[in-house]
Amino acid sequence: MNILLAVDFSAREWAEWLPALTRELPNDTLVQERSVVAPEDIEVAIVANPAPGALHGLPRLRLVQSLWAGVEKLLADPNVPSHVPLARMVDQAMNDAMAETALWAVLSLHRRTFDYARQQREGRWARHSQPTAGEVSVAVLGLGQMGRTVALRLAANGYRVSGWSAHAASIPGVRTLAGDASLPALLADAQVLVNLLPLTAKTRGLIDARLLALLPRGASLVNVGRGAHVVEADLLAALESGHIGQAVLDVFATEPLPAGHPFWAHPKVTVMPHVAAPTDAASAAKVVAANVAALREGRPLRGLVDRARAY
Ligand code: GLV
Repeated sequence: MNILLAVDFSAREWAEWLPALTRELPNDTLVQERSVVAPEDIEVAIVANPAPGALHGLPRLRLVQSLWAGVEKLLADPNVPSHVPLARMVDQAMNDAMAETALWAVLSLHRRTFDYARQQREGRWARHSQPTAGEVSVAVLGLGQMGRTVALRLAANGYRVSGWSAHAASIPGVRTLAGDASLPALLADAQVLVNLLPLTAKTRGLIDARLLALLPRGASLVNVGRGAHVVEADLLAALESGHIGQAVLDVFATEPLPAGHPFWAHPKVTVMPHVAAPTDAASAAKVVAANVAALREGRPLRGLVDRARAY
C-alpha cells in the first residue's frame, strides 16, 4: 500500500518517525512527497498537523490515521475528507505517560513542592501541614483512554479519586459520575481538578469562572487536555483572588504560549510546553501498523473517531 505521510515534522521528528514506521510497515511504501505517486494510488494517510490541502483529491483514500490523540483540528479541517474513516492515536505508552504527568502534578500539589520552590526562591523556611494522600480528593474530567489510566494511577497511589464523563463509566476504586447535572457535586469536593476531556463544541470553554467558582477555595487545576477548555482570563482572575491556589498547565489557547502572556511569570502557574504525553514513535508506529493490517484484512480499526460525537 502507498501510505502518505502528511506531517509537519521537524528534522529531529523525521529522524525518529521514519525508521520506526519503516520498521513496522516493511511491505508498504511510505510516501513523503505526494507528487511522486498518483493520487489514486494512495490508500492511507498518516497525519500530524497536515498542511492545508494535503489530503485533497485522493479518490481511493481508505483511512486517515492521526499520530495525535486529540483530533479536533482534523475534524475542523475541510480538507480532511469526512467520508473517510479517521482514527486517533490510541496507545498505552501515551496513556502511561499521561498518568505519570498527572501523578507528578497531583503529588507536587499534595506535597506542596510548588509552594516550597517559591519559598526557596524567597529564602523562606516555613512548614505547612501535610495531609495524607487519602485525604486529598482529585476529580478527573474525561474518562476516555487517558482519563481512565490517570484515574487508576492516582487511585493506586492512595488519592480519593472521582471521575466525570459525558456517558456513564465504571472504574474500579474510582467514584464515577456522568452528565452535566453531576458536575456541581463533583467540583464541590475536588481539591485538584485534572482535565482530560476531548475538545468538542460542548467542552470548549467549559472551565470558566462559573465552573471554577464551584471548586472549594484553594483548589488547583491541572490542564493536560486542551488550552481551549479553559477561559484563560477567568482562570487568571481566580488565581488573583486566591480561589484557585495553583494551576499546572500543559496546553494553552495559543501555542507556543506567546511571549509576555501573564501565565509565563505568574507565581501560581506552572507552564509546560505541551509535553504531558508526547506520542512515542516506537510504540505509535506499532499502533499504526496494526490499523493498516486491520484495514488490509477487513478487520475493525482501533481508535475510530465518531464524527457526530467529535472524538
Ligand atoms: C497531544 O496533545 C495529542 O493529542 O496527542
